[in-house]
Amino acid sequence: MKRKLLAIGLGALMAISMAACGSGSSATSTAASSAATADDTGSVVTDTDAQSLAQSIKEDAGTNDGSLITVGFSQVGHESDWRTASTNSVKEAFSKDNGFDLQFVDCDNNSETQLQSVRNFIQQQVDYIIIDPIVSTGWDTVLTEAQDADIPVIVIDRTIDDSDKYTAWIGTDTKNEGLAAGAWLKDYAKAKGISDLNILVISGTTGSSAQIGRTEGFDQYVKSEGWNKLDEQTGDFTQDGGQQVMESYCKSYAGKFNVVVCQNDNEAFGAIDAMKAAGVSYGADGDVIVISFDACKAGLQMVLDGDINADFQCNPLQGPDCAKIVKALDAGQDVEKETFMAEPWYAHDDTVKSVSYTNNAGKDVTEDMIVVTQDIVDAGY
Ligand code: AHR
Repeated sequence: MKRKLLAIGLGALMAISMAACGSGSSATSTAASSAATADDTGSVVTDTDAQSLAQSIKEDAGTNDGSLITVGFSQVGHESDWRTASTNSVKEAFSKDNGFDLQFVDCDNNSETQLQSVRNFIQQQVDYIIIDPIVSTGWDTVLTEAQDADIPVIVIDRTIDDSDKYTAWIGTDTKNEGLAAGAWLKDYAKAKGISDLNILVISGTTGSSAQIGRTEGFDQYVKSEGWNKLDEQTGDFTQDGGQQVMESYCKSYAGKFNVVVCQNDNEAFGAIDAMKAAGVSYGADGDVIVISFDACKAGLQMVLDGDINADFQCNPLQGPDCAKIVKALDAGQDVEKETFMAEPWYAHDDTVKSVSYTNNAGKDVTEDMIVVTQDIVDAGY
């Protein structure tokens, strides 16, 4: 595939100088996201940032003699520990040493910024585009534009559900995560002699495939087991969001709930802080069962400590497999349309040793619940 170094350099510089002049939002988003390359804070770019970034891109362009594969990565944002691990995984895999020239855009959980970032990559004629889609719909037009520009798109992590105009997807089946959580809760409650389950859910970003899949999977058990789901509100996959929702739940449902399902670890951290402040006991020795997703290092530590009862991993380390896909495409090879990451399930104790459920592919599976040890925490992401 022909390399598009010059176009990238000029396109990026144009966008940055527009940002420096305070022009349209699309240019600002490109510059802001590129600033995140230098300083992973996702903070908004200033004129000075834009000028120094322009200089650094000029220098970068000077180091790409045309042999590097140019890749634009439109990342969701920086909302969670999971997201940081995902960003690092892609940046490491798409290094210059590995033969790539990566442009990174932190979209700060803003779908308009994300669509614009992809359009900027198209305009800059990168060789490949990687997208981790904030929401699962609204993609067909921009993917058609990428296809018309002959730029393959690789989707990672979350899915795009209203268009198939991408070359490959690599990620996790979030419905299976929700199903496994439901199967675990069913067996755990039975083993503990808890017959009434009154459940509060703190969901992830509304419309993201991670939220949709985990909700669908878990709700299948809510329905089949006749559990009482008291409420479900979004915490947007953030610690602050989880804390705020839980503070309000603790007031509205005081004494009425015995399960909290947080759709990621950062929400669980916030929810636990809120329960602590409200004097609610939780976890392995408490009144409220806490379920979480992601199983990041800090989440696993809380499972080990007994604050979170069970944690269902969503694997963020997609960079190396994604880089393999791009290299294969670049060599003219065919690639799989879908690649699923392996995901273990973790618990504080061995009350439930394994979970059995019918997975999203319609297959009956039995999977281990791994009891967390310090070694597992230390090896976590
Ligand atoms: O899409 C993956 C989800 O997004 C992770 O569960 C969450 O932590 C992140 O924000």
